[in-house]
Amino acid sequence: MNGLDRLKFISGDITKLEVDAIVNAANNSLLGGGGVDGAIHRAAGPQLLEECKKLGGCATGDAKITKGYRLPAKFVIHTVGPIWQGGRHNEAALLASCYRRCLQLAVGHGLKTIAFPAISTGAYGFPKEEAAYIAVCETLKFLQKESSITCVYFVCFNNETKRAYEEVLSALNPAPNLICP
Ligand code: AR6
Repeated sequence: MNGLDRLKFISGDITKLEVDAIVNAANNSLLGGGGVDGAIHRAAGPQLLEECKKLGGCATGDAKITKGYRLPAKFVIHTVGPIWQGGRHNEAALLASCYRRCLQLAVGHGLKTIAFPAISTGAYGFPKEEAAYIAVCETLKFLQKESSITCVYFVCFNNETKRAYEEVLSALNPAPNLICP
């Protein structure tokens, strides 16, 4: 088993998903913003911000967990992706770290299903295809060692994101070990 069977690629709004945790592409303050961050705070209600205020921010590449409040998801895992600066500022490693830290937190809390937006590919400008490759490879690497997570959703909010994941999948299937670093 290589983990591919536990990945699901879906289109839509992450705030609607009934999963154990949805991931928020936040900023270092964890005090809200635009994009998926704004949507998650609007849907979860003001208690989410109150809990976030107590977390003391979050480093780029790291993640912190809160409750989901009014969301259908039980928890929100807030992570901070890198701002794209041309690719020579450790962006790839930091983005991989976001996926790894979110999955580690999920396992630590006994969670089985988790949904990711395409972290850093909106306001933070990370190229979508490279980001999709990092997201899928880092997640597969994690799932190969960890059986407690039953499903990881990659949520595509626009067609470019969907196409980026499709490209990565067609390159990986059926032998991810041959291509992922
Ligand atoms: N469901 C799923 N994906 C979404 C949704 C949604 N409701 N809304 C947007 N996306 P972005 P970043 C997608 O900009 O690049 C915030 O202000 C979106 O199409 O939300 O990591 C934070 O506070 C894109 O594919 O996050 C930070 O300051 C992806 O989510 C900054 O933006 C990420 O886009 C973080 O920038």
